Amino acid sequence: MNIHTYEKLWLAAAMVLIVGFIATITYGAVGPGVSMIDDDGGSIDPDAISDHERFGDTGVTHVGGNEYEVDVVAQAWSYSPGEIEVPAGSEVTFYVTSRDVTHSFSVVGTNINTMVIPGEVSKMTVEFDEPGEYGILCNEYCGEGHHNMEGKLTVVP
Ligand code: CUA
Repeated sequence: MNIHTYEKLWLAAAMVLIVGFIATITYGAVGPGVSMIDDDGGSIDPDAISDHERFGDTGVTHVGGNEYEVDVVAQAWSYSPGEIEVPAGSEVTFYVTSRDVTHSFSVVGTNINTMVIPGEVSKMTVEFDEPGEYGILCNEYCGEGHHNMEGKLTVVP
């Protein structure tokens, strides 16, 4: 073999590795690794959020009894609404989506923690038994303002 044959072999080997890496990353992004996303939440056109039935008007909705729905839009680098207030003893279903890049919606000190992906709606139902105050943080790096991305959740008596 001459030097050019070796070069071609190395190039071929490098291509195989690169394709392998991309396949791994792609599989990781759409595969079981994102099981924290609730498919029941469905999908959404991230460019039409302002006109969306649910996300065009974010906030807390009383749906009856002790049940509430909270619609949240995440964007660089804030949540809308920034402050959420629900009563103690309530059962709250959160619907969260992103306007731009991947964020998270994580309520500090609880197991409420979901990735928020543009085009996807993350849905989770939570019971709040006692009054309290919680911080909401973004755990997914989303740019220079990531560390300032926060909200507040208050469970009122
Ligand atoms: Cu949003 Cu980090």
